Amino acid sequence: MRDSVEVKARTGGAELERVVYTAERIAERVAEMGREIVDAYPEDEEILVLGLLKGSFIFLADLVREIARPVTIDFLVASSYGAGTVTSGEVHLLYDPDAVLEGRHVILVEDIVDSGTTMNRLIPMMEDRNPRSLEVCTLLHKHIATDLVREPRWVGFDAPREFLIGYGLDHSENFRNLPFIGSLKAPE
Ligand code: PRP
Repeated sequence: MRDSVEVKARTGGAELERVVYTAERIAERVAEMGREIVDAYPEDEEILVLGLLKGSFIFLADLVREIARPVTIDFLVASSYGAGTVTSGEVHLLYDPDAVLEGRHVILVEDIVDSGTTMNRLIPMMEDRNPRSLEVCTLLHKHIATDLVREPRWVGFDAPREFLIGYGLDHSENFRNLPFIGSLKAPE
């Protein structure tokens, strides 16, 4: 997949600045994160994994298969970026999970914490539902936000401050299907 012809087939010809995390490196780290999550909860207690769509869909699918423990899975949809590359500051809840959070161990799964806006809006909303515990697991953390209401308990990678795409992350809805994470060339 590092072959530039194959990459361009998936990007529609768009040039990447660089590959930031290869598929192999992501898989290794996701497996470690699964083990870290298993170690954090008592054996007989079920975990509700709540994935934020759309960005987390690939990470979540890989992560839950690395959690050797009964889990239930639900999703919520919160969109803020629209078609641009800069957060609008608004977080819209487009789909609310059916799952009951009250009294349960909940892990919110994010692909990336960037400005922190999404997390800062969602955490209080989830807390209001009285989960037994609530933790955030994110594949990428840019460490830009200085006012996060809660630091993610599990972070895959401390990410560079570049516009990242692939493995679920998009630009204008494109590139989510790249099996690695790359950064997009800035427009000239
Ligand atoms: C992206 C990403 C995170 C959020 C992080 O979602 O998936 O949820 O932005 O950015 P923040 O920390 O600055 O809030 P987006 O709203 O683009 O929707 P998507 O998941 O459908 O790509």
